[in-house]
Amino acid sequence: MTVTFDRALTAAEVEQLRRSTDAKGAVRLPPDVGAAYERESLLGFEKSSRPEAGALLSVLAAAVPPHGRVLEIGTGAGVGLAWITHGVGARDDVEVVSIELDGELAAAVARARWPRWVRLVEGDAREALGRLGSFDLLFLDAPGIKTQGLSEIVAALRPGGVLLVDDMAPDNVDDPAWRDRNSAMRERIFGDPLLVCAELTYSSGLILATRRTHASLD
Ligand SMILES: C[S@@+](CC[C@H](N)C(=O)[O-])C[C@H]1O[C@@H](n2cnc3c(N)ncnc32)[C@H](O)[C@@H]1O
Repeated sequence: MTVTFDRALTAAEVEQLRRSTDAKGAVRLPPDVGAAYERESLLGFEKSSRPEAGALLSVLAAAVPPHGRVLEIGTGAGVGLAWITHGVGARDDVEVVSIELDGELAAAVARARWPRWVRLVEGDAREALGRLGSFDLLFLDAPGIKTQGLSEIVAALRPGGVLLVDDMAPDNVDDPAWRDRNSAMRERIFGDPLLVCAELTYSSGLILATRRTHASLD
């Protein structure tokens, strides 16, 4: 297959395309997730999680403990949420909260059918985080929050809770200011004594971290 573009791609775009193409054949889309990608197209939304990141999210969502709670920061078009609900599956002991700042996106996602244990919140996660409670899995996928403080995020993680941060590859975006903020966030995540972290270099780059159950002895 040959694909042509009507302009020269930036280095970051070429890298993103390569990563995405590499993984595409390996990811199978569950039907509900396929519907979410269709909604994304209808809305003209272009920032949804890629299938390889979404599949990882569903694996993590399937592993939350009994009566677990999941938080997604940045609902977007509901693609990540569809991957999460796919992972939770037929369980009804889990609560999934997803928060979105953009009212139009939040309304569009609210019109779709979701399991009754999904709670959609419209608002700014920076203000809402303190009153949403604590979580076993937190998917951090809103750019403004990623480049701000980390303490509220770690505070919202239960001991043993898992944090997944998307779009963290250092070369994900060409904008130098964004790269600086991304780099500062990476330092904070990897430097946090409460977190054990792994860097996943596929897709748009992910950081996976677990909140320690005991304070570090270091
Ligand atoms: C990368 S998209 C989310 C994609 C989605 N999580 C997925 O997996 O398909 C980022 C979203 O975060 C939202 N957002 C940005 N700042 C936010 C904030 N402070 N609170 C909540 N949502 C925010 C944006 O409006 C946008 O829809």
